[in-house]
Amino acid sequence: MKFLGSEILDRAKMKAVKLVPLVLAIILFMGHGSCASFTPVDNYLIACGSSKNVTFQDRTFVSDSEHSSLVLRSGNSSVASSNSTTPPPIYQSARVFLGMASYKFEIKQKGRHWVRLYFYPLPKSGENLTSASMSVVTDNFVLLNNFTFNKYNGSYMFKEYAINVTSDTLTLTFVPSNNSVAFINAIEVVSIPHEVLPDQALALNPSTPFNGLSELALETVYRLNMGGPLLTAQNDTLGRVWENDVKYLHVNSSAESVSVSPANIMYPAAITPETAPNLVYATAETMGDANVPNDNFNITWVFSVDPNFMYFVRVHFCDIVSKSLNNLVFNLFINDDIALGSLDLSSLTGELGVPYYKDFVSNSSANSHTLTVSVGPDTMADLTDAIMNGLEIMRISNEVGSLNGHLSVKSLLPSSPTKKSNIGIIIGSIVGAAAAVVLVLIGLCYCCLVARKSKTTQQERPWLPLPLYGNSQTMTKMSTTSQKSGTASCISLTSTNLGRFFMFQEILDATNKFDENLLLGVGGFGRVYKGTLEDGTKVAVKRGNPRSEQGVAEFRTEIEMLSKLRHRHLVSLIGYCDERSEMILVYEYMANGPLRSHLYGTDLPPVSWKQRLEICIGAARGLHYLHTGAAQSIIHRDVKTTNILLDENFVAKVADFGLSKTGPALDQTHVSTAVKGSFGYLDPEYFRRQQLTEKSDVYSFGVVLMEVLCTRPALNPVLPRDQVNIAEWGMSWQKKGMLDQIMDPNLVGNVNPASLKKFGETAEKCLAEYGVDRPSMGDVLWNLEYALQLEETSSALNEPEDNSTNHIPGIPLTPLEPFDNSVSMVDGGNSGTEDDDAEDAATSAVFSQLVNPRGR
Ligand SMILES: *[C@@H]1O[C@H](CO)[C@@H](O)[C@H](O)[C@H]1NC(C)=O
Ligand SMILES: *[C@@H]1O[C@H](CO)[C@@H](O)[C@H](O)[C@H]1NC(C)=O
Repeated sequence: MKFLGSEILDRAKMKAVKLVPLVLAIILFMGHGSCASFTPVDNYLIACGSSKNVTFQDRTFVSDSEHSSLVLRSGNSSVASSNSTTPPPIYQSARVFLGMASYKFEIKQKGRHWVRLYFYPLPKSGENLTSASMSVVTDNFVLLNNFTFNKYNGSYMFKEYAINVTSDTLTLTFVPSNNSVAFINAIEVVSIPHEVLPDQALALNPSTPFNGLSELALETVYRLNMGGPLLTAQNDTLGRVWENDVKYLHVNSSAESVSVSPANIMYPAAITPETAPNLVYATAETMGDANVPNDNFNITWVFSVDPNFMYFVRVHFCDIVSKSLNNLVFNLFINDDIALGSLDLSSLTGELGVPYYKDFVSNSSANSHTLTVSVGPDTMADLTDAIMNGLEIMRISNEVGSLNGHLSVKSLLPSSPTKKSNIGIIIGSIVGAAAAVVLVLIGLCYCCLVARKSKTTQQERPWLPLPLYGNSQTMTKMSTTSQKSGTASCISLTSTNLGRFFMFQEILDATNKFDENLLLGVGGFGRVYKGTLEDGTKVAVKRGNPRSEQGVAEFRTEIEMLSKLRHRHLVSLIGYCDERSEMILVYEYMANGPLRSHLYGTDLPPVSWKQRLEICIGAARGLHYLHTGAAQSIIHRDVKTTNILLDENFVAKVADFGLSKTGPALDQTHVSTAVKGSFGYLDPEYFRRQQLTEKSDVYSFGVVLMEVLCTRPALNPVLPRDQVNIAEWGMSWQKKGMLDQIMDPNLVGNVNPASLKKFGETAEKCLAEYGVDRPSMGDVLWNLEYALQLEETSSALNEPEDNSTNHIPGIPLTPLEPFDNSVSMVDGGNSGTEDDDAEDAATSAVFSQLVNPRGR
């Protein structure tokens, strides 16, 4: 981002001006030597600066000087080599860059690729490579930022990244810092099978699905073969390295390694050796004799991590110890959070010796520099034991697309990519010719691969129509409903305002025994069904997985917390069912689904400008209530267009309080917390400082406003770099006063310019870099009201009654009515008057500045 490291930026600029970027042509090389069932479509193994091919771990790395004409002509790179025996041969040569330089790889199959980099500062290279300081970036992600071996604790370095390539080329650019050089010893760019890395994983505390991983870059930081030997590229069909776990054990004697023959591992249909080799599943750590009187303890591994990043954590299990099914039941913790509770592998796999894995997203524990993973026996189990076979921890790129520091590719690469286009074309043709030959080879030898289905990266993700934890109606409210319908089917009300208690049988009746035809959505937490209560009320029923990661206690806590909230613009929880260890939540039904589906990605008719304003105003009110309506403010933390739901009258309600947190107490300015939320919507300041305030929601709401105007996703990595992030892109057009150039074509000509201007200014203020510069939700609300007023006034003046097809009748014009409110309502002890009479008391001061145009 702009505010950091401007010094570095300037230096890089100077360098870029002085030196013509160097681009090396790379030939495609088909790897051999692995008897793998998987053969990567793209498989570049490059020995940089080497005069000959190099064999390393049974694979041949091709010299990058095979096509060196360009290198020689540009004359700003040199090669270095060494004859020493350590480190391994792949590190014995290097290419040294005096200026910015790139390798460009033609990509045959879009999707995730391993990008592996080998660095060793060769001693006799003419340059002091140990103090060389450099950055390495791909087209969209920063891999290394100002890295130098001076600060690195080791003599050579291997780095592995999983980068999703969405275009036909991948460019790796090496940027030397001030007066320094950059260098690289070897590079791999290799396809990863689509199934290996998911788009979704489960975030913890509270457990909630984390979507959108495929839009982010990953860096492997730990990959462990529990209780087993070091596995290298020869032992893994994807060329991964797995190390032994012992040095990460918190207490050495807590674990005891076990192993079976790899031949005993039976892969189920969904798991292949590409997930992890059978050598990983054939060894494990189990509970050792830790010399403690009580044999109920955890095996804990401790990893040092950078607290500024989130981590993808994959755990691999395979029961290689039990003698019979349902013997081994244990818990998995990540940091202090329960990740898998009462895990009985045999109930999931049906047999012993069958691999199972699970993915999580986590960050460091309590902002410390460590991440811990533990397994321990379940108290209810017959056998006091726990097991783990493999563990992978990968860093997730941050808001600016970096895996190292807070600078974006844009700020590290000041020159526009179009300047390179001449060279790019030349290389394109060379690579193209080589690739054509290879294509034939691929066609002949690996025709079976053709059958492999290629998934589009722009896959529509199932939306979660409901909050993971909604807010609840109060008991009072319930009785009102019951009276109205006259069929008080309510069996019992709990004593503590938790909403209505449902019997499991009622839930079965309401959902037609969880009829799959009534399924509204599926998430990591379970499934959501449309249901109809006995009195005809439509509801949405969320059923937690029977063996859910979310414990009963947490389930209850959520309900209790939510019962404090009630507002017309927050989705309501009607009740719950915890009979027969079910964890079921019943919410009000939102007939028109998420706002996002009315903006893009579906066939739904476009929504008029006025309606969009009304929806934004409704959502803003819900958030304003969260921030100011209760005794302690509540920060939503996951404001986005899929969490704004629309009822049958298109009234907007904020949903999914799964990440919500109570705001700072009166004497504090912020809450310190690990960063959670959705990419594309995250407040950059929150990301940098991990300090959460209400203004983080304001930022996310600014992103929502841009989405509403431009009808495109918050992040779209397929677009040119300057357009990927809607916040940045929209702001650049807003600053030019030309938002009308990028807005939804359906709106062109149908928006009052003054209203659009007000809207644009409001979004701009919400998206301010620093929280202090952003307005409060109350101010946002006022501004949106004003934009609506401008729109309404203009349409009243200019157009006769316009009953366009977009108009959906029956939308209550509530935004301009709230001055009538008089009753204050904070604690849910409402008098039971009709819906929203009592809401928004806290906002009336804001509205009192408004003039109701219809009152004239
Ligand atoms: C890994 O592969 C190497 C080379 O093929 C082999 O020598 C070694 O035994 C393998 N390791 C295991 C654990 O099988
Ligand atoms: C295992 O670790 C978790 C998470 O830190 C903790 O809550 C639990 O009490 C531990 N169990 C035992 C038996 O120490």
